[in-house]
Amino acid sequence: MKKISYFLTVLGMVLFLQSCYYDELPADSGVLPTNVSFSQDVQRIFNVSCIGCHSGAIKLDLRSANSYQSLINGNYVLPNDATNSKLIKSLKGDGMAIMPPTGGLSNSDINTVIQWINEGAIKN
Ligand code: HEC
Repeated sequence: MKKISYFLTVLGMVLFLQSCYYDELPADSGVLPTNVSFSQDVQRIFNVSCIGCHSGAIKLDLRSANSYQSLINGNYVLPNDATNSKLIKSLKGDGMAIMPPTGGLSNSDINTVIQWINEGAIKN
């Protein structure tokens, strides 16, 4: 009997602490809620439409282990400024060769990438 009440006390403490954690997160994080995830949504587009070519041999490595660093370090993405980001210019064929060269992305995929950049281009 003693063991059970000990177990329940510990369980109660864990649940209590967890509820605190979630209560405080939005107030303290200072990060706006975001709808687009780099790892889930943007990388999925790269996997389907880009890494057939951009896997290390040519400029801009878009494989999941390297894509974020390549985009930021190579200045392809200007956080919060999709319009002037080379990545978006390439997807639209705006002053750059359109990517993928075999045919552009759907508008909804382009909009996903635009939204990710305009939400701060974070590695989420
Ligand atoms: C069929 C092959 C192919 C596919 C698919 C492809 N690319 Fe490219 N891409 C190239 C080649 C080739 C270049 C020129 C590379 C160079 O200049 O060394 C290039 C260049 C680029 C550049 C400009 C690099 C620079 O600094 O000049 C960007 C940005 C780019 N691609 C993005 C993408 C994105 C994003 C996708 C997917 C949506 C994509 N590409 C899909 C072949 C491809």
